[in-house]
Amino acid sequence: MKSNKIDLTFFDTVHDRKNTGSIKYDTLPSGRRYNDIIPMWIADMDFKVPIEVENALLSVSEHGIFGYTNTDDEYDAVLGDWYLQRMNWQTQPEWNIKTPGVVFAIAAAINAFSNIGDSILICQPVYYPFANVVTANKRNLVASQLQLSGGKYEIDFDDLEKKITDNSVKVFLLCSPHNPVGRVWTKEELLEIGRICLKHNVLIVSDEIHSDFIYKGSVHIPIASLSDELAEQTITCTAPSKTFNLAGLQAANIFAKNPVLREKLQKACTKTGYSNLNTMAIVAAKAAYKYGEPWLNTLLEYLQNNISLLHNSLAGSKISLIHPEGTYLMWLDCRALNLTDRELKNFFINEAGLWLHNGSTFGAGGSGFMRMNIACPKSILKEALSRLDKALKERSYL
Ligand SMILES: Cc1ncc(COP(=O)(O)O)c(C=O)c1O
Repeated sequence: MKSNKIDLTFFDTVHDRKNTGSIKYDTLPSGRRYNDIIPMWIADMDFKVPIEVENALLSVSEHGIFGYTNTDDEYDAVLGDWYLQRMNWQTQPEWNIKTPGVVFAIAAAINAFSNIGDSILICQPVYYPFANVVTANKRNLVASQLQLSGGKYEIDFDDLEKKITDNSVKVFLLCSPHNPVGRVWTKEELLEIGRICLKHNVLIVSDEIHSDFIYKGSVHIPIASLSDELAEQTITCTAPSKTFNLAGLQAANIFAKNPVLREKLQKACTKTGYSNLNTMAIVAAKAAYKYGEPWLNTLLEYLQNNISLLHNSLAGSKISLIHPEGTYLMWLDCRALNLTDRELKNFFINEAGLWLHNGSTFGAGGSGFMRMNIACPKSILKEALSRLDKALKERSYL
């Protein structure tokens, strides 16, 4: 067994992820010119998992039998402790529906709680599979635009409510914390969302996959923890995948307190033919929630340092960083460069050698922005920032 000691230097190690099938490293953007482009788009991290997770996976691998596997009481207990201790949210094991992913669960919820042609509400710009899953399931996509004011995104509650009543919205897909704008919604904001949704009988599907990435000054509150009424009206989507960098193992825990909602959601999942989590996902998630807290706390400090590096590097440039309250996905306001979305993408790829996520992918309001994943060793981030600085200078943008 390897040592369990963790400090900031753990995250300095650069791991070669090429030729592993990694979507981030083994695909290339179309039209790229750089051989050594730095990928900073998709939301996974360039860090190894906690050593206890690696060891737990090794020991199952050595056992050599991978039959159908169930979660056990310890799985429920460590998960319950995690949410109780970190978020003051008391859950029960029977609330948990396990799925291979959060997007899978959102699709299942759309099928369970709405019919073809019904309206589903999102706040854009937002994680683009929200819109894709709504339209792919032939629902009517209704978007309320987040408002950027004083460098901070806010929900336009009047618009939100009007969109709900005008379209008889059935389901609101909440992104909490919000990818890509980095907001950690406050208690007051969540209560207002809750008030409106309860008033109009709108089901809340709250995607809280980024809830473990919260920076100083903010607190994540699961919307379902705010009142009994909200707990009854909400489906909360969580997963170990972002927190512990386990996305490839595909596991999510979807909490529904209300037994009627839970049964409907479970039926929609069963209808797809899906039944059990995979063996490795169960083992990894259990070890992660049991032993991974020191690793996560150190990681959060590391990410905070990376954010400072980015912030300092962009100071005085024409690109401004929207202050992130949560997530490791930075939202860069590049509108002052006066480039079209295509020109912006080409600038980053061909002139800076950086592959970021185009803001326009996240819907209306994302135009002129880029999303940058800073969950990488600081040496890589420094290289990326120096490339960006050079590319901006070459264009006389600095
Ligand atoms: C807000 C949000 N939800 C869901 C996902 C993906 O979750 P999953 O892989 O479990 O479907 C991501 C991945 O980036 C995300 O940012």
